Amino acid sequence: MTDKPFLYVVVCAAGVAADVSKLITAAQERDWEVGVIATPTAMNGFFDAAAVETGTGRPIRSAWRRPEDPRPFPAPDAVVVAPATFNTVNKWAAGIADTLAVGTLCEASGLGVPIAVLPCVADALAAHPAYQDSVSRLRGMGVRFADPYAGEGERDGERGVFGWERALDLLRNG
Ligand SMILES: Cc1cc2nc3c(=O)[nH]c(=O)nc-3n(C[C@H](O)[C@H](O)[C@H](O)COP(=O)(O)O)c2cc1C
Repeated sequence: MTDKPFLYVVVCAAGVAADVSKLITAAQERDWEVGVIATPTAMNGFFDAAAVETGTGRPIRSAWRRPEDPRPFPAPDAVVVAPATFNTVNKWAAGIADTLAVGTLCEASGLGVPIAVLPCVADALAAHPAYQDSVSRLRGMGVRFADPYAGEGERDGERGVFGWERALDLLRNG
């Protein structure tokens, strides 16, 4: 048990997820207690699950609990989605809660819990009108989006710096 505020870190299946431990460490340094919820696809080798569980001291959640099981995490004081994929952003905006990650996001926005999003979406996908509508709909719900990040291929295959701490700044500054 701890008095620290509880942060959910929702991890989607984008290449930069491999570095999600940077966000966890930065959040802990800012005095958050952290629990990770990953999409089922993200659990399929996109990051080091064992390292994350060691770092947070808690199991990663990816599937719904059974009805008789207790809630594994406390209620969130804030939520970060990083990296946020094209797929998860669109499902969240549309209310398609077919993963624990999206279901948690839909519920957290309804409860008014602060949510910060670090998208990692290629320019070609970000140009899709459904994605633009999704971002605008979620912004209208009060969700805080960081600037776009296109991932690999930005400059001749080079990847810019993802800037994990932007999520924590967004929670602090709104
Ligand atoms: C190596 C790899 C990297 C990927 N990177 C991204 C990415 O940066 N952004 C994205 O939106 N999708 C990316 N994808 C595609 C997603 O994994 C795919 O759309 C998946 O359905 C997303 O599931 P999720 O939103 O439930 O995590 C990548 C796929 C692979 C195999």
